[in-house]
Amino acid sequence: MPFGTDAPFLIEAAGLEKVYQRGDEGVVALRNVNLWVLPGEFAVIIGPSGSGKSTLLHLLGGIDRPTHGQLHVNGVDLVAASEAALTRFRRDNIGFVFQFYNLLPSLNALDNVILPLLAKGLGWKAARARGADMLAQVGLSHRQKHTPAQLSGGEQQRVAIARAMLLEPCVVLADEPTGDLDSASANSIITLMVELNQRLGVTFIVATHNLNLLRVASRTYEMADGQVMFAPAG
Ligand SMILES: Nc1ncnc2c1ncn2[C@@H]1O[C@H](COP(=O)(O)OP(=O)(O)OP(=O)(O)O)[C@@H](O)[C@H]1O
Ligand SMILES: [Mg+2]
Repeated sequence: MPFGTDAPFLIEAAGLEKVYQRGDEGVVALRNVNLWVLPGEFAVIIGPSGSGKSTLLHLLGGIDRPTHGQLHVNGVDLVAASEAALTRFRRDNIGFVFQFYNLLPSLNALDNVILPLLAKGLGWKAARARGADMLAQVGLSHRQKHTPAQLSGGEQQRVAIARAMLLEPCVVLADEPTGDLDSASANSIITLMVELNQRLGVTFIVATHNLNLLRVASRTYEMADGQVMFAPAG
C-alpha cells in the first residue's frame, strides 16, 4: 500500500532517520525505521539502552523532527508541518507519560491533572469536575489533595497518566513508565494502561525494558542500534 494513502493506520512511519549533531560529529540515533500502528492498539517498543526508543517516541509525538523519512500521525504529516501546526498537533493528539512522572511538586494531584485544561482556558469548576473524574478512572479519588511528595511512585504515575489522558488524546506515548517502580507497582501500572486502552479505546505506545509489557502488547517493535530488528507483519 503506498505511504499515506487510504491507510487504516493511526501512525505510519517509513524510512525514519534521526541524526543528532554533536559538534562536528553526527550521532545516528535512528536509521531506516518503518513502523505502523492501528487505532486502539497497545504497541510496545523494547530494546537496550541507547537503541533509539526515546528518540522514536519524540518523533511520533511531534517533539522533534526526523532528519529523513516520512511520518504521518492521525492524518497529520509531521515532516511538512509548521512549528505552529506541530504545537497544535501535540495538544490535540498526544498525551505524554514519563519515567519520573514530571509532576509539579507544589501542586496537589487534582491541580496537576487539570493544568492542561486550565491552560486551554476552561473554567476552574468544569476543570475540577473533569479532573476528579479522570483521577477516579485511575483509582485515585481518595488522593486528590495529596502533593507528589505525599504519594507513592505508583500513585504519582497514576496522576501523570490521568493528566496525559485529560484532553482525550488519540495516542498516549509512555517512555519507560514503569522504570522507577518496584515490580508490584509496575504491574499495577501496566494493568491500568491496558484497562484504559480497552475501556477508552486510546492507543498506547510504550517504550520499555519491562518484559511483562510484552504479554499485553498487540504489537511489538524490537530495536537495536537505532534500527527496528523485529517488526510484526501487516
Ligand atoms: N540530544 C541528543 N544529542 C546527541 N545524541 C543523542 C541525543 N539524544 C539521544 N542521543 C543518542 O541517540 C541514541 C539513542 O538514544 P535514545 O535516548 O533514543 O535511546 P533509548 O533507547 O531511549 O535508551 P534508554 O533505554 O537508555 O532510555 C543514543 O546513542 C544517544 O546517545
Ligand atoms: Mg529512553
